[in-house]
Formats: sequence, C-alpha cells, structure tokens
Amino acid sequence: MSKLWGGRFAKNTDLAVEEFTSSISFDNRLYKQDIAGSIAHAKMLAKCKVIADEEAQQIIAGLLSIQADIEAGTFSFDIALEDIHMNIEKRLTERIGPVGGKLHTARSRNDQVALDTHLYLKQEIVTIGQMLHDLEEAMLAKAEKHSDVIMPGYTHLQRAQPILFAHHMLAYLFMLVRDFGRLQGVWERTDMMPLGAGALAGTTFPIDRQFVAQELKFGAVYDNSIDAVSDRDYILEFLSFASILMMHLSRLSEEIILWSSAEFSFVELDDAHCTGSSIMPQKKNPDVAELVRGKTGRIYGHLMALLTVAKGLPLAYNKDLQEDKEGLFDTIDTVKFSLSVYASLLEGMKLNAPRMLDAVRQDFSNATDMADYLVKKGLPFRQAHEVVGKSVLYCLEQSKKLTELSLAEFQSFSALFDTDILEAIKPEVCVNARNSYGGTSPQQVRQAIERGRGILAAQQSTIDTCRQTKI
Ligand code: ARG
Repeated sequence: MSKLWGGRFAKNTDLAVEEFTSSISFDNRLYKQDIAGSIAHAKMLAKCKVIADEEAQQIIAGLLSIQADIEAGTFSFDIALEDIHMNIEKRLTERIGPVGGKLHTARSRNDQVALDTHLYLKQEIVTIGQMLHDLEEAMLAKAEKHSDVIMPGYTHLQRAQPILFAHHMLAYLFMLVRDFGRLQGVWERTDMMPLGAGALAGTTFPIDRQFVAQELKFGAVYDNSIDAVSDRDYILEFLSFASILMMHLSRLSEEIILWSSAEFSFVELDDAHCTGSSIMPQKKNPDVAELVRGKTGRIYGHLMALLTVAKGLPLAYNKDLQEDKEGLFDTIDTVKFSLSVYASLLEGMKLNAPRMLDAVRQDFSNATDMADYLVKKGLPFRQAHEVVGKSVLYCLEQSKKLTELSLAEFQSFSALFDTDILEAIKPEVCVNARNSYGGTSPQQVRQAIERGRGILAAQQSTIDTCRQTKI
C-alpha cells in the first residue's frame, strides 16, 4: 500500500511498525466527525477560492459516498493507512481521482485529529449530560417517594443521628448536580475549533476559520495555532469530571452493597439487577453496584495515563498524543453504561422502612437531642454532653435504651429532666427538630426537593441548547 506521505521514503514501513503506529482499530469511531470536518473544510476552501466550487462539490460527494459505505459496513479499513484520516482521504482519491488530493490543502492531520476529537466529545457530552440528568431525576423521585422514611445517619460508619432517607438521597443528588456543572465547564472548553492551525504554525493560504467554526457549530476558535494542536486539556478535564462522577456513584454503590447485606437489611435490590452464585444457591449478589464501584478504578487509570502522557511533551504535536483516544473512548462507554443501569437500579431498590426505623430505635443516635434538651433548659452544651455521656454508659451497663429510662433515672443524671424528655428523644421528633437550612427535617427536605426540581429544569434547557449544535 503506498503511503500518503510516501514521497520522502525509499523503503517500505516495517510491518510490525505499521501495526504499532496504526490507530485505525480505535479511531475509526471518529469517521462521522472526520467527514463532517472535511466537508466544512472543502466548503471553506472553495469559498476562499483556494479550490474551485466544482472541485469542492466533487470532494463533498465523494466523502458522502464514503460515509454511506462505512455505515453500510462495506468500507474496509486498512492498518497500512494508519488512521481514520488517511483511510478516508486515500479512498476519496481512489474514488474521485487526483482532485481528492486537494482536500488536504491548508490542513494537517494534527489539526484534523484535534477537530475530530472536539466534535466527537461535544456530542458525547450532550448524551452523557442527558443521562446524568435522568439519573438525577430518578434520585429526586426516589427521595420524594420515601420522604418519610427515617434511618440512622452515620459518621465513621457508627450510628450518629437519625435522618430522613430522602435527605441521604438528596446528598447524592446535589453531588451529581455539581458533576453536571463540571461537565458544563468541559463543554465550554471543548466548544473550540482547532482547524486552521495546520501542522502547528497556521497556513500560507487565505483560509476562513470563523466560517469553518460556524459550519460545524462551534462557539469559538482556538486563538493560538500551537496550542490548538498541542494540548489535550479538554480531554483531561472530561476524564476528571468522569473520575469524580464515578467516585460519587462508587460511594453510593458501596452503601447500597452494605444496605443490601443481611447485617443491614435496609434495602432489597430487584432480582433484575442482581446475579446468583454458581455454587451457593441462596446468593443474590449486588453486581451492578459492585461493577460501578469497580469500574471507577479504570476511569481513574485513564485520567492518570493521559496526565502522564502529556506531562513531558514538548510543543507542538507528538505521536504520544495518539494515546489520548482509547482511554477517552473507554471512559465515555463506561460512564454511559454506568449511568444507564443506575437509574433503574435505584428505581427497583425497595426500602425496608421498619427495619431502618428499628435500627434508629436500637441505638443512641438520639443522644445529641438529649443534650440539646438540657441546653434548651439552660445547661452549657459541654456539661450537657457529659450528663448524656454518663446516661449512655449507664444504659449500656443496664442493657437499656435511653427511651427506656424512667423519669427517676433521668433525674439521677440531671434535675433539669422532666416528663417531656421521652417525647424529645423520639426519632421522629429528633428528625423534625433539625430544621436548620439544609438540614434533615421534613420541611427542609421538601424545600430541597423543590430547589432540586428548579435546578434540574435549568439543566434540561442547557442540554437542549447544547444539543442544537449537533452536526
Ligand atoms: N492518528 C494520529 C493521532 O491520533 C493523527 C495525527 C497524526 N499526526 C502526525 N503528525 N503523525 O494523533
């Protein structure tokens, strides 16, 4: 196979080297973006009179016929042609003759690959943004559906204070809302058009980069040609967004795994989201949650890999940068997969509300409320802490709960206790009382759900606006 760059070479490429340097096995994913970019470039060359209108038309028709072949599965990619860019360009010239060779005027593969990846990532950001939004909707619905379920809240995985399950769910919702915000930031910096940078220094032809940006619905063009072909920070930012999102989902997964264990028995997952054991007939394993937790590791790996690839590279393009794609593609696939299974995992998750409430009743998570009771009667908080600490120790020795103490027992720890103490330390009362902004009381949770709803509506219109730039 003769190479598009064959002129300077006296020898054929070593076959192993051909295989080693080729990226077609994975960058064929970019065919649509490569063709859309080439069509915009050809139109621009004609508009700027670098090529004739008829030549541009021939090129565009040829490119569209190649796209049809690729989509019909009749196009065979060749590793000797290295990457998607040269596979398409070579076939174009075979199909329409030497005029196909004019397409690469005022362009380099360096700005071409940057353009393709920007276009591809923009499109995937919209898809992922929508999926993330849909998961947020599922979380909000879950919180709303179980808005009166009380469970223990934990610190150090020790029961701490009673909370509403909805409040716990909303904690994840607001984390995902920030993830969405991060994704919006990635969008802004991916919505920049690199074509026209040439190999690195711009081009001697009178091109119109704004025209190409408009054709491809980019919001801005790269200001510096060297920057445009050298950096992959927009990919790194996407990988960072993905790492943080997966970290959030991984933490929720960890909780769901714990909650569905016999020891907790707070939730039961739908059979459709679990698998069995090949040896132990009784097992029902929370595989989906485990895999989301597990796959988080490879996303971190992709982020670290690209940070490491980029850290020592002199400007401008280096072949090392070809290593950006597999990690990016795998991250996109993994995040989409995880998001798509997660909404239904949550929907199908049944809560064992009596068991959750029972866990609260069996513990001392109302101890802070007992101390607050004394504070409201005038005792400084530190002294109240001491009084309640002693009461807890007494209960542990007597195998009792705080709610099982008699008034005389309460008053042996402090004369400030009165008959209303038993009411003050009931789980419902403890939860209702945490009515500070952002707290777990039903009133605060209702307001948080309302705020969440407003945020999600705004997200949807952002997604719809971005979707209009689809090419
Ligand atoms: N396949 C290459 C990549 O993904 C395209 C750019 C090649 N440029 C070059 N000068 N060899 O990075």
